[in-house]
Amino acid sequence: MTKPNVYVTRQLFKPAINIIEKHCTVEIFDGEDNPIPRTLLLEKVKDANGLLCLLTDKIDKKVLDAGKKLRVISNYAVGFNNIDVNEATKRGIYVTNTPGILTETTADCAFALLMASARRITEGDRNIRTKKWVHAWGPKMFIGADVHGKTLGIIGLGRIGTAMTQRAKGFDMKVIYYDPYRREDLEKGWGIGYTPLDELLATSDFVSVHVPLTEETHHLISKEQFSKMKRTAYLINTSRGPVIDEKALYEALKNRTIAGAGIDVFENEPLDRNSPLIELDNIVMTPHIASASIETRTAMAVMAATNLVSVLLGKEPPNTVNPEVKAIRKK
Ligand code: DGY
Repeated sequence: MTKPNVYVTRQLFKPAINIIEKHCTVEIFDGEDNPIPRTLLLEKVKDANGLLCLLTDKIDKKVLDAGKKLRVISNYAVGFNNIDVNEATKRGIYVTNTPGILTETTADCAFALLMASARRITEGDRNIRTKKWVHAWGPKMFIGADVHGKTLGIIGLGRIGTAMTQRAKGFDMKVIYYDPYRREDLEKGWGIGYTPLDELLATSDFVSVHVPLTEETHHLISKEQFSKMKRTAYLINTSRGPVIDEKALYEALKNRTIAGAGIDVFENEPLDRNSPLIELDNIVMTPHIASASIETRTAMAVMAATNLVSVLLGKEPPNTVNPEVKAIRKK
């Protein structure tokens, strides 16, 4: 029996490639850390039965039209806003993602951004490296905000929002949350209160965003929302860049409408070298690395490979965002 063809759009960790190679003929794009050029993706997808792609690969109608033999698109991410899932579903193609395994690592990073913004950690580091530390100690030097005892507002109480809650509780913080779906189980379990969005913005000392990017969440935090936040508040985002209106964020930080921000994701990635955000001191930025630990990135790769191979072996994938494909395929 001939093996199914798989195309992988970036070099991945070996344990994942081993899983695919056992059952499939694999080709991997070797562009180091560069995303695959679109023309090459359109070419390579033609023969692929399975595609393992990254959040930087736009899998739209055009790619799906080219990939006539595709049975599965396995995204190496929990977020899947880079894929036109409706179009994939219409064609009976499974779309899979990597939920769960990056939860704790992402929450670690979100909490690190919160701490670093409040306590001006990266500003202090820059101060030493640029040889500007001239006074040994001063009562007001790099004065920041306390984290313990403050109120954290979580927007989106899914897996990562809940893991963030757990961390905040360790710092004796009060946690409130907004989510379109009430989570009464978690409210009781964690002693946290559901709060309408405007009230959450007005009362939180830290606001941390943990929602998927959809039409509804695009620019969920914009000029109006910043104007409702405390002038002493900090905004943390490890979800997707376009959930926050970046121009409005810049204005809010520059005009001190809010005190600071810790941001891992941007409207356009990589961030434009001329972005005015770079000039601001009251923002801590990381280059979309919230899940970037060796353990988690390896586990994500293994999960993505397992999802992909399951479909190609005729089984249901362990993690799919369009399970309705099963019924479509049976017809
Ligand atoms: C995801 O998985 O969606 C993150 O953004 C990258 O790990």
